[in-house]
Order: sequence, then C-alpha cells, then structure tokens
Amino acid sequence: MAEFTLPKNSQVKAGKKHAAPAGAKNLRTFQIYRYDPDKDENPRLDSYDVDMDTCGPMVLDALLKIKDETDQTLTLRRSCREGICGSCSMNIDGRNTLACLKPIEECKGDVKVYPLPHMPVIKDLVPDLTHVYAQYASIEPWLKSDTPAPPNAERKQSPEERAKLDGLWECILCFCCTTSCPSYWWNGDRYLGPAILLQAARWINDSRDEATGERLDNLEDPFRLYRCHTIMNCTQTCPKGLNPAKAIGDIKMKMVERQG
Ligand code: SF4
Ligand code: SF4
Ligand code: FES
Repeated sequence: MAEFTLPKNSQVKAGKKHAAPAGAKNLRTFQIYRYDPDKDENPRLDSYDVDMDTCGPMVLDALLKIKDETDQTLTLRRSCREGICGSCSMNIDGRNTLACLKPIEECKGDVKVYPLPHMPVIKDLVPDLTHVYAQYASIEPWLKSDTPAPPNAERKQSPEERAKLDGLWECILCFCCTTSCPSYWWNGDRYLGPAILLQAARWINDSRDEATGERLDNLEDPFRLYRCHTIMNCTQTCPKGLNPAKAIGDIKMKMVERQG
C-alpha cells in the first residue's frame, strides 16, 4: 500500500493506496474519505482502484465491491439501492447525491467520495443525523385531527386536495438538501433547514390535518423558518427532483396570508 498525492491546500491527508487487482484492465480510481473519530487524529483520503469490468454501474456498486473484496473496514449506510430509503446519501464528485443513483461514468477523473458536508461523522461516510432527526420530531410529522375518522373508512380527500401533497410526499429524508444549504451550515443549531421545512409543508398542506395554525405558530421564529435566504442550493441538489425552496416559500406565504 503506497501513499498517493493530494493537492497542497487539501485539509484531508492522503491515506493508503489500494492497487488494482491483478490482470484488471478497465480501471477507475475512487478516493474515499476515511475517518474514525475514536481512533484517528485527522481524516484521510484512501485510494482504491476498481476493475470496472466486474463492477456494477453505480457508485454504490463500487463502494460495496471495495468493502466486499478489498477493505472491509470501509463504513457506509445503504439499504434499498433504489433511491427509496435515502440512506446512501453522500458527497460524490463534489455534489450531494445518492450513491445508488449516481452513475460512475458521470463522474470526472478519480471518483471522490465524502460524507454529507457539515455534519458530525460517526465513521467514514456515515454522518451523525441525531440533531436533524430531533428537528424532524419537533415539527410533529403525523396527522393531527380532533375529528374522529369515519367508522370503517379512511379520511377522504378530493383529487385537488391530494394533489397539494405532490412534490412533498416523495421526500426520502436523505438530507442532501439540508447539508448543501449555507444557512444550515452556519445556523443548523436553530434553523430547521430545507428537508425538515419541506416535511413541515407536507403536513401544513394536508387537508385532513386540523393543526395548521399550530404548525405555523411553531415555525414563526427568526431562525426556525426565516434563516432561508432563497439561495436555492437545496433545490439544485435534491436527487428526487423536489423543490424545497418552493415549499419554504409557500410556508412564508401562508404566514403572510394568515396575518391578513
Ligand atoms: S433556498 Fe433556503 S433552504 Fe434552500 S439552500 Fe437556500 S437558504 Fe437553504
Ligand atoms: S427534499 Fe430532496 S434532498 Fe431534501 S431530504 Fe427530501 S429527497 Fe432528500
Ligand atoms: S440505498 Fe436507498 S437510497 Fe440509496
């Protein structure tokens, strides 16, 4: 295992180089962030050569191949490998996205893989989501209604009412948006960030929910909602094609409308 070279201004030290398997001809190199806060003083970038002739097309395929065949200590989250569970979110080729939906052939040069930015790291590519999930709990993401459900039937919505949830219910809580938001980087202790605000909009817009006023009261705060400065990183990065900036704008509009 030899050292490889990083640019001089890099904050992350160069780590181990894992050479190509014998006989492999179609190679891509993956530079992967490695850090175990319990053991390592500093993070490092390890380099792995992967034989693309025996690898699937997505970045997640390569990461799992590396873990299976080269380095079992590499740590990452994944479950569905279909863009549904949201657990394989990370920063690939300079952009937050889902490793299972990111084709290797779209990456330029060596494929650089980091954890989601500006989150504490548990190990390697696994960020600590404790804080952001506490923020999620704070918006009480469940139906609130004093009216009992009809006996032996669901609570009905018209097609128009149901359509108001489109663009919201599809969110998989991957936090690619939240971790790309400069306002969240600087004020994430109090600002809820785009993912949680989009989830808040999902309940505010639900015709069956009877706590709209209470939900808006809960967001009426200079930090929780109003730290969004419409920078739009969130919408540009969402791997599900959602528009959290618009959802936040809609909540702000509802705040204005209710003031009359
Ligand atoms: S639009 Fe708002 S939430 Fe989205 S990146 Fe910008 S500041 Fe963050
Ligand atoms: S809005 Fe998009 S980027 Fe943000 S958490 Fe939901 S799916 Fe992920
Ligand atoms: S593994 Fe589930 S979204 Fe990528």
